Amino acid sequence: MSKDKILIVGALGQIGTELTLALRKMYGDSCVMATDIVEPRNLKNEVGWYEHLNILDKDRLRYLVEKHKITQVYLLAAILSAKGEQNPGFAWRLNMESLANVLNVSVEKNIRKIFWPSSIAVFGPNTPRQNTPQTTVADPLTVYGISKLAGERWAEYYHLTKGVDIRSLRYPGLISYKALPGGGTTDYAVDIFHQALEHKKYTCFLNEGTYLPMMYMPDAIRSTLELMEADSDKIKIRSSYNLSGMSFEPGELAREIQKHIPEFVMDYKADFRQGIADNWPQSIDDSQATQDWGWKPEYDLARMTEDMIYNLSKTKLPQVV
Ligand code: NAD
Ligand code: SER
Repeated sequence: MSKDKILIVGALGQIGTELTLALRKMYGDSCVMATDIVEPRNLKNEVGWYEHLNILDKDRLRYLVEKHKITQVYLLAAILSAKGEQNPGFAWRLNMESLANVLNVSVEKNIRKIFWPSSIAVFGPNTPRQNTPQTTVADPLTVYGISKLAGERWAEYYHLTKGVDIRSLRYPGLISYKALPGGGTTDYAVDIFHQALEHKKYTCFLNEGTYLPMMYMPDAIRSTLELMEADSDKIKIRSSYNLSGMSFEPGELAREIQKHIPEFVMDYKADFRQGIADNWPQSIDDSQATQDWGWKPEYDLARMTEDMIYNLSKTKLPQVV
């Protein structure tokens, strides 16, 4: 059994739901504590070891770290891009104060390793949109993107000045079936599957032709674990690594779904999220991650679509009572 004790902050969200299970598989159930500000909705699900934690409460964070001799923290709590624009002041506070609390308690308590995700949202209108390089113009227009860019700077700063072993990925839009997404611009690529299976139709809030970088959750989880397991001297980027899975636009995704559900139809009614997507990259150059710690995605559009439909169909079958 590993000596590591892991604390996951925001464990009940889209990523945390799956990352918690993956970490428990690696480290053992008793070594991975899930925390969140909301209570688990279904006590019968696989939440396991759970503690309430509002990450803005630094004293409670310090208490849990001390009490359980935590050695690694995965900070997943955040307000995402679309939701952030509804309340920019709070999005800034949560996204920045959460990271500051984790970094400061980590220094105090000698936490061994931290994972904190950034996003493609750090880029903006003057960033090259095709094959966006690791290091380039980053001029985000959303409060979410601004907070992620500032977070990347703090991450590198704490690494350089205090030796904190913090690691980070700029996740693309993530697609998954176990938990719903939490309010991002890329959420259409999850919602479309639920609507296709239940109603055979979907109205997309992004226009046809809006290419965005995306990734299927199994690749996102594997990339996170591979980054965190890599030897420290291989991690050359201490702000955040570009990460790439696939790139598609809504029409391509709809046509891929139609291969499985031929009667599925989609129309378009763009809203404010179009303006966010229009200033994000369309594809990402992640060669630095490949070079430094061997990153390679496994899922393309066809394979992801098939797997999403297969797994969601199982959960949407009428339940026998
Ligand atoms: P999510 O919104 O699905 O989950 C966030 C979780 O944090 C929720 O369970 C929420 O209850 C919890 N939370 C909110 N406020 C909290 C607080 N004060 N204290 C403790 N917990 C709190 O988000 P996600 O999609 O799982 O994203 C996790 C991280 O990955 C975020 O930093 C996000 O910016 C980043 N990311 C996600 C994507 C994506 O497509 N999902 C893409 C890029 C980056
Ligand atoms: N999927 C996220 C969002 O749309 C990207 O960080 O906000």
